[in-house]
Amino acid sequence: MNIQLVNPFNKNLLSLAAEGLMENCALIFPKKNGAYRIAGDNNYTANFGYQWNKFAGTQVDKASKLHISKTRFFAETNWDKEDLSGKNILEVGSGAGRFTQILLDYTAANIYSVDYSNAVEANYQNNGPNDRLQLFQASIYEMPFAKAQFDKVLCLGVLQHTPDFERSVKALIEMVKPGGELVVDFYGVNGFWTKLHAKYMYRPFTKKMTHEKLYRHIDNNIDWMIRCSLLFSKIGLGKIVNRFIPICDIEGTLPTNVPYAQLREWCVLDTFDMYSPEYDNPQRIKTVARWCKKHGLQNVWGGKIKYENCVASVVKGIKR
Ligand SMILES: C[S@@+](CC[C@H](N)C(=O)[O-])C[C@H]1O[C@@H](n2cnc3c(N)ncnc32)[C@H](O)[C@@H]1O
Repeated sequence: MNIQLVNPFNKNLLSLAAEGLMENCALIFPKKNGAYRIAGDNNYTANFGYQWNKFAGTQVDKASKLHISKTRFFAETNWDKEDLSGKNILEVGSGAGRFTQILLDYTAANIYSVDYSNAVEANYQNNGPNDRLQLFQASIYEMPFAKAQFDKVLCLGVLQHTPDFERSVKALIEMVKPGGELVVDFYGVNGFWTKLHAKYMYRPFTKKMTHEKLYRHIDNNIDWMIRCSLLFSKIGLGKIVNRFIPICDIEGTLPTNVPYAQLREWCVLDTFDMYSPEYDNPQRIKTVARWCKKHGLQNVWGGKIKYENCVASVVKGIKR
């Protein structure tokens, strides 16, 4: 694998051992439940740890028997045309590991997968143990790797949830080796109405609720919200009226041709995912593309990519 590990706090070299990451023969970052722990659980991503451990298999193709993660992954990266055998791929903000699974099952690459929350445990449950996978609980700003080593860096659905979008982009680019590629997707800004949405009205309150309380609240109300949302979509008013129902966008993001119980599970998860994060900062594609160029990418491409009934804002480029 040959990735040089470093302590992000003092830049000393680290080595991998069964019990954790070692610095000068001393155990510095323990390995617990399949992941090296550079960060603890008590940080602004605790909501994600809660949701991904509660819904570990919901969005993972091999558990859901759907192929949404695979379709999204290949539509956005276009990597199926490349031979990634033996390449080193860094995945940041991996959650329950829906894309880790795709990387492991459809490429022969080595995967280094990072998440700031204890979602790494859900990822391990879904994808471990595997000789080609190393899991790290660490922040995007404090990753345990020397710079410029990875052939590919992937960060899907994460950047809007970090406190400083541009700094996060810079941190990702630092990890890409010259000639390597970064691919990110994120919540895009699609005009002034982006923030004219129930999410931005209620989130200041809902993100302060305990995870259990918010989860119960969503679970107790999800059925009538699904009924209303589907009804408004059916009569052609979904795009306007559903913005004001505090539920995820069923029409534009979820599989609808599945049994009700499965749709309900996706809705509870995605609604929790909307209303619990500390940070939710959508960006314009052109702004993210500009930051990518500023921090060292060339051949930068930014645009919308359609897959199934979804549209993603994607930016990618090659490290100079
Ligand atoms: C919406 S989830 C997306 C997870 C996964 N990529 C997916 O699409 O299913 C966002 C993830 O980003 C992680 N995250 C947020 N801030 C982070 C940071 N500073 N460093 C690393 N991961 C972070 C969260 O813990 C969470 O698991």
